[in-house]
Amino acid sequence: MKFAFFDTKSYDIPSFEKYGNEKGIEFKFFETKLNKDTANLASGCDGVCVFVNDTVDAEVIDRLYELGIKIIALRCAGYNNVDIKYTFGKIHVVHVPAYSPYAVAEHAIAMLLTSIRRIHKAYIRTKDHNFSLSGLTGFDLHGKTVGVIGTGRIGRVFIDICKGFGMKVIAYDKFPAKDSDINYVTLDEIFEKSDIISLHCPLTDETKHIIGKEAINKLKKGVVIINTSRGALIDAEALLEGIKSRRIGAACLDVYEEEADIFFEDVSGHIMDDDTLARLISMPNVLVTSHQAFLTEEALNNIAETTVNNITEFFDNGYSENELCYRCGKTESCKNGRRKCF
Ligand code: NAI
Repeated sequence: MKFAFFDTKSYDIPSFEKYGNEKGIEFKFFETKLNKDTANLASGCDGVCVFVNDTVDAEVIDRLYELGIKIIALRCAGYNNVDIKYTFGKIHVVHVPAYSPYAVAEHAIAMLLTSIRRIHKAYIRTKDHNFSLSGLTGFDLHGKTVGVIGTGRIGRVFIDICKGFGMKVIAYDKFPAKDSDINYVTLDEIFEKSDIISLHCPLTDETKHIIGKEAINKLKKGVVIINTSRGALIDAEALLEGIKSRRIGAACLDVYEEEADIFFEDVSGHIMDDDTLARLISMPNVLVTSHQAFLTEEALNNIAETTVNNITEFFDNGYSENELCYRCGKTESCKNGRRKCF
């Protein structure tokens, strides 16, 4: 079997070659992202393997279908970049629902600690033999209230870590977990009571700009916002205004609304066109990482192994446990005796 592998980065290749070779799958690695102009690269392949910033809209799906592509294998959990409904009856879509919730939750905590204890500033200072402490005052996490939006795999690991720090945890989820002792509150209570807010819900029409102008007006002064989920959960312009007005004390962003052409790339030799991102990065209380939260050895191996298993399961049995359903968007909801809602 041959798979066109789009948006390849050097760290993808070893694990996908290893697991692919074991199951007789040849990955053709392309650095370019998948879009309407590059879809033809998949000619002669059985499927495509894509990541978060590949474009899999109706036009691309039509072209892939014409080329005989049978399966789109997402090597990530989120699938907001794929028009799943449009794939129905044409191409099957599988994803990797979980690869390391620890990787993402631990990165969120790493960003939080770096930000509030000014480690990013101290690191640069001591490199320059500047041992002054002025401006580096932080605050204790112990006793602070953290508001967690989305209590799925990653949100729950994040909550456990926060409890270890002695923080008070409140949470909001559209579908609260029944098997937990999580203290669920309303979204407004999260906004009003939290010293720190961490986003762990998926990007949907409902959650787009969940942190927008209206929400920001309700926030506790000095709140720290962490986003390791999807950029468009936050209205970046509103965030910038919230930081300028001093309502938001700090922001830790691993994802950004308009990240597609910037994140994962070295654009250091170019003029930054995105004024909002440039201004955010210039702020001393904003920390940006480049969609890096997933990037651990464990996660990379799990991603490759699950993707290869999804593909072989699909070609062997005609279905995969991790196939996405266009109706409910979740494989988990579709197990009611059938593999999908449709
Ligand atoms: P999950 O599916 O286990 O949990 C998501 C939770 O969000 C569920 O409990 C769900 O009920 C809840 N939710 C759904 N709609 C909601 C709404 N309208 N309001 C509040 N909560 C809502 O997903 P998981 O594995 O915990 O991942 C969370 C997100 O993290 C993913 O959607 C993905 O976008 C992001 N992610 C980011 C990575 C990175 O490298 N930065 C890597 C992996 C995932």
